[in-house]
Amino acid sequence: MDESTLRAVLQSLPIPTIQFHPVAGSTNDLALHLLEHASPADLTLIAADSQTAGRGRMRRQWVTLPGSALAFSLILRPSPPETAHLGFLAPLAGLAVALALEELGLQPQIKWPNDVLLERKKVCGVLVETVWDGAQPRGTVVGIGVNVAPSSVPPADQVMYPAGCVEAALGQPVAREALLVSILAHFIQHRPSIGTSTFLQAWQQRLAFKGEPVQVQPPGQPAVNGTLQGVNPRGELLILAQSGEMLEISAGDVARLRPLM
Ligand code: BTN
Repeated sequence: MDESTLRAVLQSLPIPTIQFHPVAGSTNDLALHLLEHASPADLTLIAADSQTAGRGRMRRQWVTLPGSALAFSLILRPSPPETAHLGFLAPLAGLAVALALEELGLQPQIKWPNDVLLERKKVCGVLVETVWDGAQPRGTVVGIGVNVAPSSVPPADQVMYPAGCVEAALGQPVAREALLVSILAHFIQHRPSIGTSTFLQAWQQRLAFKGEPVQVQPPGQPAVNGTLQGVNPRGELLILAQSGEMLEISAGDVARLRPLM
């Protein structure tokens, strides 16, 4: 990633501060550190060309090799009304990535709650972390990793879910700086709508495996098979279990969602 190109293209957006690191440990860790030791403005961006200690959900490792991917964290300072909808920030990030990929002519799907798939392979993961001052969020870090070039795709034996990349689905090279700006523009545009029916509809429209048999396994609990129905207004995943019961699974609970076909 070229820092001067990145700074030039980001001028079209209301991003107050940009930190760019050719090599970082984890951009989420840098963002959390800033929130704990300084007072970063809303929409402060920390981006890295590569990460040596990238983190995924459920304490998994997230590898970012140089020149191959997007790895960035956006610091948000949620307002009181937004605080009521913090749980929708991760799906908003997934939606923003999906909308940016649609602009390239691709047909992404969102694997609930926020992974983005192309051709049923995961190309993007989102890790949202919040620093609290008592019951109030001091700030929320939205970390987004996108596999862009084929060299960013981890080997099959190192992932929980099949992984792919944007360039393989598109069949041509992608300018990472432009993709980053497009994701941020969609994120900023749709942020005021989180929790509304318009937002739920946009998310639900792109939901992967709708009407298909899936398996969900909340941590420490037995796996359940059923048909994926959609999301409810709280953002919970609706699964019609084989027993006929409608299960509502909250994003905090799910360890694993996978298609059975
Ligand atoms: C997942 O699917 O498990 C989430 C992966 C999130 C990776 C991104 S890359 C930028 C940011 N920094 C990190 O250490 N993690 C997130």
